[in-house]
Amino acid sequence: MSENAAEYDKLVLEKLNYNSYLRVPELLGLQRPQSDPEHHDEMFFIIIHQSFELWFKEMLHETGLLMEYFRAGQVSRALKVVKRVNAILETLCQQIQLLSTLTPVEFAGFRKGLGTGSGFQSVQFREVEFAFGLRDEWFFQFFEDDDFARGRLRKRFEGPSVYDEFLRALARDGYAVPGGLVTRDTGKPHELDPGLVECLRKLYLEPEDNYHWILVCEALLDLDTLFSKWRAVHVLMVSRTIGGQKGTGGSSGRAFLESRMPYRFFPELWEVRNRFWADEEGGAY
Ligand code: HEM
Repeated sequence: MSENAAEYDKLVLEKLNYNSYLRVPELLGLQRPQSDPEHHDEMFFIIIHQSFELWFKEMLHETGLLMEYFRAGQVSRALKVVKRVNAILETLCQQIQLLSTLTPVEFAGFRKGLGTGSGFQSVQFREVEFAFGLRDEWFFQFFEDDDFARGRLRKRFEGPSVYDEFLRALARDGYAVPGGLVTRDTGKPHELDPGLVECLRKLYLEPEDNYHWILVCEALLDLDTLFSKWRAVHVLMVSRTIGGQKGTGGSSGRAFLESRMPYRFFPELWEVRNRFWADEEGGAY
């Protein structure tokens, strides 16, 4: 912490109140529209994005705790954290819809000022994807001249994901998670593993003994569902605002975003559903 920041903190503590504790004066100084003359709707656009970034920060804060609980084998505490992340994601799905009050004409009034600024450059969004286990080297190109962002992303990219920690916790608890998944190089993308699907199938088939883990699996599926829902409402809102125009980040826009919709954090938790129904058709389930 710099000397100035430490001094400021001391002052805050000496005269603690709502505004000083929450740093409201600084917070209110962080919205700087670029349009000149200022376009009325740009403030709205900035505030939506900034509040997303704060929620991403909180989600990343929670993933740290979630991984700690998995490492400590604290299943019900881990479940509680996943539920909080899910509540935040529900809020984000609602929040993106605020943009439906921005017409294309209003957006066009200040879009040029965004230059090549784009959601592609949200380091925290990418960190959230990386933290849960969805990792793709391709996204580093958007941070080439940003050492701070690249450092954060690289750390997330190399380290174990929430999914890795979940699987390691299952293995430590005696479930037959394939050994290769427990010791794998976490810097490589996770690939669907039939052995893990089989392990999860057995876990689900014996609810009496495994219900605490089944609840975690179902909450992780809720998380995956909500993240996909966010992608879906974002792309619908994008269609509504810019139609099929290219994005400011240089992608094809809607088509690119639609191509991201099938991505999942926890593929085996989805794949095991196919196994149950295949078993039923074959008479084994
Ligand atoms: C009028 C509002 C918005 C429009 C027109 C819009 C448009 C787009 C487009 C076209 C892309 C594709 C990348 C590109 O070429 O730029 C994109 C990506 C993205 N946007 Fe938005 N967006 C809007 C609002 C938001 C908001 C409120 C957020 C919240 C943080 C957000 C977060 C993102 C993220 C994280 C990506 C990267 C998605 C990925 O790589 O899967 N966008 N957006």
